[in-house]
Amino acid sequence: MEPLILNAKTGRCEVTIGASSELIGRYIKGQKVVVITDSTIRKYHEDKFPKAEIIEITAGESSKTFDSIRILYEKFLELEVDRSSLIIGIGGGIICDIAGFVATTYMRGIHLGFIPTTLLAQVDASIGGKNGINLKGYKNLIGTVRQPEFVICDVDFLKTLPKEEITYGLAEVIKQAAIGDANLFDFIESHVDEILSLDKKIMERLIHDSMAVKLSIVELDEKETGERMKLNFGHTIGHAIEKTLGKPHGEAVAIGIVAESKISIAKGLMKKEDSERLQKVLESIGLLVDVQMNKEKIIDAIRKDKKRRGQIIKMPVLEGIGKSRIVEIGLKELEGAVNDLC
Ligand SMILES: NC(=O)c1ccc[n+]([C@@H]2O[C@H](COP(=O)([O-])OP(=O)(O)OC[C@H]3O[C@@H](n4cnc5c(N)ncnc54)[C@H](O)[C@@H]3O)[C@@H](O)[C@H]2O)c1
Ligand SMILES: [Zn+2]
Repeated sequence: MEPLILNAKTGRCEVTIGASSELIGRYIKGQKVVVITDSTIRKYHEDKFPKAEIIEITAGESSKTFDSIRILYEKFLELEVDRSSLIIGIGGGIICDIAGFVATTYMRGIHLGFIPTTLLAQVDASIGGKNGINLKGYKNLIGTVRQPEFVICDVDFLKTLPKEEITYGLAEVIKQAAIGDANLFDFIESHVDEILSLDKKIMERLIHDSMAVKLSIVELDEKETGERMKLNFGHTIGHAIEKTLGKPHGEAVAIGIVAESKISIAKGLMKKEDSERLQKVLESIGLLVDVQMNKEKIIDAIRKDKKRRGQIIKMPVLEGIGKSRIVEIGLKELEGAVNDLC
């Protein structure tokens, strides 16, 4: 498969899909290489790692803190990492965020690449250049935008990933198809079984096309002043559900996708059948389990959304499957969508 190229203001990124142990040779030219990973990924996949110094961090959101970042900077000093060195994050979205942040800030930026190992990281977190760490419970409050030089997506990593993590990644794939690629959406609908059994060819096409949607959006709007907001489809209500019910991000986003698609219907932008297609495909991959929701709490969480300006939230809506635009939605309309849900 031809590499996808992202040419953005904060850098050029080459994205390839295939065997990482072969493809990585393109980027290693005798410089010092430092891999940042976690113990689970190392345990299952160290045979695929390039020859490098390895730094392990603890898996989990609790590692996205200044304390872990400081430890990494100190390790870099110990290992005599300099501006010619290459940092490779091998892991899920958390590793990508941490490796991206340290490589962008250490010495004001050193070489960086990713080998993402979760589906979510392959189609979402490893591309687009955003990185972030948390502060006092605020997610991704501190961070930068800077493109990695390369991303290599190897579907072989996904074999050891718990099934639910695959499903959560698929929620983002479905979102990306819904906002920007009707053909990808058709493809998902007609290959659910192959996707769930991680058929290599099908997964490679799925990841490629899903990334292509995100990359084309990021190329237009790297810093999220307009077009990039489309990637938040399903996330306004999704984040509120994640916060109030403590649901995993992917599950909450799946519910958010269906709920927010109803706003598109109410606005006369999308047919009811399209919203039903969204719901059906999410159900077919095992998402959208019925949940008891506290309407008031969800509405309260939406009111606290950082994107809210007075009574208005700027958010994406669908104009059918595969097409989206950014509109201003009144809080009342959003609350109506939550009411329909509960
Ligand atoms: N920067 C961005 O643009 C962006 C976008 C989306 C999400 N994110 C961030 O990504 C994070 C979530 O990422 P995630 O869903 O990949 O979770 P994760 O990074 O926490 O990984 C999930 C778990 O799976 C394990 N794991 C990873 N790969 C594995 C494999 N191949 N086999 C077995 N186990 C494996 C990890 O050890 C971890 O315990 C969040 O912190 C979120 O903020 C960032
Ligand atoms: Zn998401």
